[in-house]
Amino acid sequence: MIDKHSPLPLYYQLEERIKKSIISEELQPGDVLPSERELSENYQISRMTVRQAITNLVNKGYLYREKGKGTFVSSQKFEQNLQGLTSFTEDMKARNLVPGSKLLHFEISPAIEEIKEWLSLEEEELIYKIKRLRLANDEPIAVETSYLPVKLIPGLTPDILGNSLYKYIEDDLQLSIGHAAQTVEAAIVRDEDIKHLNVNKNVPVLLIQRETYLEDGTPLEIVKSSYRADRYKFKINIERK
Ligand code: GLP
Repeated sequence: MIDKHSPLPLYYQLEERIKKSIISEELQPGDVLPSERELSENYQISRMTVRQAITNLVNKGYLYREKGKGTFVSSQKFEQNLQGLTSFTEDMKARNLVPGSKLLHFEISPAIEEIKEWLSLEEEELIYKIKRLRLANDEPIAVETSYLPVKLIPGLTPDILGNSLYKYIEDDLQLSIGHAAQTVEAAIVRDEDIKHLNVNKNVPVLLIQRETYLEDGTPLEIVKSSYRADRYKFKINIERK
């Protein structure tokens, strides 16, 4: 299986071999990889060669190492198209995953200046501040903090937020969501999100900020989300005109 006479480097052959097992699902996410010693004995190659193949697969995101425990197969990343103003619930359903939401914080209060300005609020107007953990098949994907004007979305309750917010806005309140401006940037996970996202300290996250407007131009929400960078990637289709 590893051909010592091939012009292809040995580490590369092993890398491809392991990659194939992951793609064919012979190795499943969460499976532990045999130890370096076992692999080097099985394939009759040096441990240094094995280490190089594993390091490359870790760097490419196929595998991850846990100190003192071993090397494991990563889950494949969810890919999300950046076109289209979709909700988390729609994104997950489109992938045949079960969307989930855990409410971490729900508050009605006056807004801080920055939010007040952005949502074009009048003095003393109230906003919802909502923090939700978003899940896919029960796995934590993102922590999302949303600010919305109370007068636009009356009657929002913690119960409703167990399901889709956009569905409530569109189906129950009959409002039309129009467009949004969204930015994506790299950041380090905030300490307060570590346990919710079930990640280690200092891992990277994708910070997404969305400012959404109703069709008539009224500002609807400002949302700051931290997505697990090991589980999520964004795709943009681009065209050369
Ligand atoms: C995404 C967006 C948020 C939006 C949310 C609504 O996560 N980044 O801006 O509020 O979807 O999701 P849902 O309708 O599932 O509650």
